[in-house]
Amino acid sequence: METRMITAYLLAVVVLLSCNKAEAQVGRVGKCPDYQGLQDFSFERYANGTWYEVAKFFTVMETKCVAMEFVPHNGTILVVSTALEKMILPPPVQQAPPPPAQLRHSKHGGFPLMSHHDKKLVIEHLKAQRTRRNINQAEPIFTPVKVVGFVSEKVPPATLRFNYTEGTSMQEYRVLDTDYETYATIWSCTEMFNGVFHNQFVSILSRTRTVEPSLINELVAKLTAAGLETSHLVVSDQQRCDS
Ligand SMILES: *[C@@H]1O[C@H](CO)[C@@H](O)[C@H](O)[C@H]1NC(C)=O
Ligand SMILES: *[C@@H]1O[C@H](CO)[C@@H](O)[C@H](O)[C@H]1NC(C)=O
Ligand SMILES: *[C@@H]1O[C@H](CO)[C@@H](O)[C@H](O)[C@H]1NC(C)=O
Repeated sequence: METRMITAYLLAVVVLLSCNKAEAQVGRVGKCPDYQGLQDFSFERYANGTWYEVAKFFTVMETKCVAMEFVPHNGTILVVSTALEKMILPPPVQQAPPPPAQLRHSKHGGFPLMSHHDKKLVIEHLKAQRTRRNINQAEPIFTPVKVVGFVSEKVPPATLRFNYTEGTSMQEYRVLDTDYETYATIWSCTEMFNGVFHNQFVSILSRTRTVEPSLINELVAKLTAAGLETSHLVVSDQQRCDS
């Protein structure tokens, strides 16, 4: 349960752009800057259907295939956030046996004369070591995670607030730019210690998993012109999301 909560929380940090924790994004001294949300913004057109994350500010959390889907439900709009989260491999269950005495005491690299039994011990030790190395070199394992919340407030012109039941408090972000049908650029900022520090997070969303690099370049240029620190943007991984 604890792990589940942490997972939900971490995913929400990345997907929903909360910056409550120091691990996130771009931290700076002082209060949050105030970037304007899109004027004449349509909540109905934006909070409809699926958005995929195609670029974001760097985070230490390793996620891929990040998506959020807005689903009308009984008078509210649910937001279903999904991602594949890189799994941290547990240490090998079986500890390698300690090196046999012959191996520990061998001063010259070569093995001294060994009994059949000792040879077996040495071989087992080397095998166990090799298995451990293979585990470390394995392809990273990604595990699906999903967090559901709902749009709890719409603050004009373009701020959305979300409530979650699992391990997270209210989150909010602002839509800086969108054409509703192709792309959206969203931004959030959280102050810590009464505005002594703040953390900003930017994410570029798309209606499709992949986009033309020229579109990303165009959006990044707009963000730079607006004064955001776009050097922190990294392209999001949306490859092999269905496996
Ligand atoms: C929501 O998306 C659907 C499917 O793309 C579309 O038909 C509908 O017009 C959209 N609604 C709004 C309010 O944009
Ligand atoms: C729908 O919302 C109403 C009022 O908010 C509530 O009483 C009802 O239980 C909800 N139904 C479902 C299926 O969630
Ligand atoms: C959303 O969460 C906040 C606290 O995080 C709470 O004050 C508010 O009442 C919640 N809104 C709804 C609609 O549940």
